[in-house]
Amino acid sequence: MPVIFHSASRTFHLFNPFYSYLIKLLPDGSPGQLYFGPPLTDREDFDRLLELRNRPLQVNCSPQWDCFSLDSVKLEYPCAGTTDFRRTALEVSQPNGGRTLEPRYLRHEITPGKPKLSGLPATYVEEDSEADTLTLVLLDEPTGLQVSLRYTVFAGHAALARSVELENTGAAPLTLTRAMSFCLDLPESDYQWMEFIGGWGKERTPVLRDLAPGVTSVESVQGCSSAQENPFVILKRKETTEFAGEAVGLSLVYSGNFLLQAQVDSWETTRLMGGIHPEGFGWALYPGERFTTPEAVLAYTRSGLNGLSQTYHTLYRSRLVRGEWRDKPRPVLLNSWEAFYMDFDSKKILSLAQSAADFGVELFVLDDGWFFPRNDDTQGLGDWVVDCGKLYGGIRYLSGQIHAMGMLFGLWFEPEMVSPNSRLYENHPDWIVQTPGRQPGIGRNQYVLDLSRKDVENYLFERMEQILGPGMVDYVKWDMNRCITQPYSGALPPHRQGEFYHRYILGVYSLYERLIARFPHILFESCASGGNRFDPGMLYYAPQAWCSDNTDAIARLQIQYGTSYCYPISSIGSHVSVCPNHQLSRTTPLYTRFGVAMFGAFGYELDIRKVEELEYKWQIGLFKHYRSLLQFGDFYRLKSPFEGNIAGWMVVSRDKTKAIVGEYKILAQANAPYRRLKLAGLKPDALYSVVDFWNSRIPASASGKFNQRLDCYGDELMQAGLVTTDNSSGNTSQTELDQGDFTCKLFYLEAQP
Ligand code: DGJ
Repeated sequence: MPVIFHSASRTFHLFNPFYSYLIKLLPDGSPGQLYFGPPLTDREDFDRLLELRNRPLQVNCSPQWDCFSLDSVKLEYPCAGTTDFRRTALEVSQPNGGRTLEPRYLRHEITPGKPKLSGLPATYVEEDSEADTLTLVLLDEPTGLQVSLRYTVFAGHAALARSVELENTGAAPLTLTRAMSFCLDLPESDYQWMEFIGGWGKERTPVLRDLAPGVTSVESVQGCSSAQENPFVILKRKETTEFAGEAVGLSLVYSGNFLLQAQVDSWETTRLMGGIHPEGFGWALYPGERFTTPEAVLAYTRSGLNGLSQTYHTLYRSRLVRGEWRDKPRPVLLNSWEAFYMDFDSKKILSLAQSAADFGVELFVLDDGWFFPRNDDTQGLGDWVVDCGKLYGGIRYLSGQIHAMGMLFGLWFEPEMVSPNSRLYENHPDWIVQTPGRQPGIGRNQYVLDLSRKDVENYLFERMEQILGPGMVDYVKWDMNRCITQPYSGALPPHRQGEFYHRYILGVYSLYERLIARFPHILFESCASGGNRFDPGMLYYAPQAWCSDNTDAIARLQIQYGTSYCYPISSIGSHVSVCPNHQLSRTTPLYTRFGVAMFGAFGYELDIRKVEELEYKWQIGLFKHYRSLLQFGDFYRLKSPFEGNIAGWMVVSRDKTKAIVGEYKILAQANAPYRRLKLAGLKPDALYSVVDFWNSRIPASASGKFNQRLDCYGDELMQAGLVTTDNSSGNTSQTELDQGDFTCKLFYLEAQP
């Protein structure tokens, strides 16, 4: 059992092979935090870790305890109005106008497995033996508010899942104004805070800063998790690198407004917490009602940032992503967007699809523009009526044709939006998100449908159900191209308007859930103008997400690298697009575009009829050959594209016998230094055959000086490095592949038996 309760010392020891987490019930019955770090030998009490001193200006909890103040201890779920003056996790407005809360231990339960979070995305287990869950129930007697803190310890992951359930067992209504998913007080503050910021086309750029006294935070109040700040943060030691050292990860399984913050107090402790953003939040909890917070997943590592990322990758890939597509090889897709935008008809689509099929593509995706009237982005959203003028025979006929070509068929939707000149808006102007008496904001010429309303959700389910029809569509790209303003729901009474944002996202989740239940075979890919809603919440419904609208391979090196800190590469939608690139006008060699996109949920987004057939066929064949290694192996970041001219990453099979390495040179250099790329994750004593993909297919005359295959021990490849020097470090005679900017090297490694 990875959760032990020591009743004499009232201490809970949560542990697995990767960490220990200690909670002790404090003298007043509130749960205190004693330790989170490498596993500790279990013992009856860890009381020496609880220090209670009388500090200047301290306010004690009651005359009964002369040196016990919540301000000077580490807490599990601090509440408003108490002797603790740091930021609080829970604040509740009470009928008498008060906000003080003092929930104290009532009981606890330790159960095998992991309970579901109703209506919310969450990690899960398939067998009870995979995890144990501690539920710590606290009661605030004056209000009757029951607070259940849930902790799931996974047996095989360095991760701890937390969530909170709040139940009004009293007689009067309460309003939750702040209900965080977790709080973690750490005894030190010498950490660096790593967050992932950005915007459209530049999503999830890692930014590192030293934690300083006061509050540091990332957040979104846009109604979605956003491209600006991702609901994921790493706290690392200064000396922690990609390969060694301590770090804690905080990831929120949520797609709406969020807050993740760290507060360093004057005694150099760090309070971490996260959950639904309190700004504008207010949830009325009537007697007998319950509210569940989104789940937060904490991870701990001593093996560097790659170790931390791999914990999230493995857990999210296998126990957050669900359904048929979780363990199936992801199909190579071709998306019509950058090929035709909205300018197409059946003839063009079918000829594009035929070329795709000839090249070996497995899934053809028809992007935006298939419904009526939709020739630009000013109209058409909401009615979801096929444009039979453009598409002869409609979706049924088209999908039949694509299926007959031997491919799966996918379709784009933007369910959450409506165009002003649509029948839907004409009939239901009250279905949009708008504040009465105010002009609703408009983004990309569209309004947001109020998904907090069941009638809106039902309408969308029915429309989508009709189009997706049995067996017609195998994949859905679910887009969302604007954020929410003037938050308000016409279906909610005034005192419940603070519930709008959360109810909206619950509506999105519910619609997804119903569609998944109805069409379990469909592979969903989430999208929000690229990566404006790339978060773990979405991964629970859609196993992959379009990572960014920026398809330039060199920009993608950074975007995919940054995204990989939390998210498995199998979830990162990445496509080869045409050059000059449509976003940056950059021209990048095809083999580099392929070499970047293959480290993701791979596909194409171009007019494949106009490209060099042999090369593309070769790429697709190569990808298919190595796709399960790429999809299920362990991903390592080797060299950061944010730090220099050379970037590198690799994937190693779980048994360490196979690996694929990508190394990228951004700008050409004259008289360049020799290069070595230090690999990771290999067996030190295994002899690996190393094949250079490009050189092994160049005719011998062109690549005479390269060995087709090199044999090297794992320790040499990891400690001394793989020599990746190209001809730019020599005199003149360059092979085509080494010339110019934006080059790429790809290696395959296989351990000899
Ligand atoms: C934004 C998406 O990110 C693109 O890939 C494309 O689907 C367009 N929307 C279509 O409008």
